[in-house]
Amino acid sequence: RVLVLLFGGRSSEHSISCATAGGVLGALDRERYDVIPVGITRDGAFVLERDDPAAFALNPDALPEVRDDGSRVRWPESTRSRELTVERDGVVTSLGEVDVVFPILHGLWGEDGTIQGLLELAGIPYVGSGVLGSALGMDKHFTKVVLQAAGIQVAPWITVTRDDWEQSQDAVADRLRGLGSPLFVKPARAGSSVGVTKITSAEGLSGALDVAFAEDGKALIESAVVGREVEIGVLGARAGERPRASVAGEIVVSGEGFYDFDAKYLDAPGIDLVCPADLTDEQLAEMQSIAVRAFESIDCAGLARVDFFLTDHGWVINEINTMPGFTPISMFPKVWQASGFSYPALIDELIELALE
Ligand code: DAL
Ligand code: MG
Repeated sequence: RVLVLLFGGRSSEHSISCATAGGVLGALDRERYDVIPVGITRDGAFVLERDDPAAFALNPDALPEVRDDGSRVRWPESTRSRELTVERDGVVTSLGEVDVVFPILHGLWGEDGTIQGLLELAGIPYVGSGVLGSALGMDKHFTKVVLQAAGIQVAPWITVTRDDWEQSQDAVADRLRGLGSPLFVKPARAGSSVGVTKITSAEGLSGALDVAFAEDGKALIESAVVGREVEIGVLGARAGERPRASVAGEIVVSGEGFYDFDAKYLDAPGIDLVCPADLTDEQLAEMQSIAVRAFESIDCAGLARVDFFLTDHGWVINEINTMPGFTPISMFPKVWQASGFSYPALIDELIELALE
């Protein structure tokens, strides 16, 4: 099968996507898949990348990047063809007929329905959620609106646009009443904790919003939830069946920090990933059932990682990630390994789901 691995991209999670791609390139069974690695540069050019897992290792001193070597990958001209081509120095070469695309892209212009729309237009099967599920999962405001409508608890929040803030800081302060302290300020559409700040007083708000607005003109201000941080993987439904939930993994934070970018990828101290999480059978069963309900209500397909807090008043969803971090040490593969899927078997399953 000819598989296009799409990675990099225009978002602030470019390097994380490259690191994930490195893991997947290294794990794909080459007897079964002809792999075409297509990188998207930070400014949106589609280039033919190196088929070399080591080129995309997650090195904290030099995060991996798609490099622009001047090649340009071109999608098929119409739905009558699946042929991918590459142009280099004016010479066009065929890369073969594509069977499936694995868009291992995080963040805007990749995890948000835009690439999914391009692939829908081209009529090419792809791994993961479609346009709507990707768009809903990317936008933390709309994720919460949909989850609440499905009867799922989310952290109390307000949504503030840059315009709202510029027009009246007092009006925003009024709306904050009741959210308590500390608060998390987050861009609505970003990931890997980029642009997220924890604040403990009103003085911090303006600076935190500046940081969030640098990522997105829309931000969320959320109550910090008191509880354990527990995450779970969901795999899409096989024909005629329901989606499947994995066992859970827990993020154990010691000290004052939170599970931010450095803790996620740069191995900052004070954070442990514990898998499987220490939960009772009832707690896990309830979490799994809410995760599947969330997956269905957001209209996800293929895969998602659903991030929860376990609180005194039950399970609260923090967010849903439609293309979760997927390096071999990431939580999503971990929880599936603990549920009986090896890393390569998980990749095979995702591709089978895309082709079903
Ligand atoms: N947004 C990152 C990649 C995650 O959710 O794992
Ligand atoms: Mg996320």
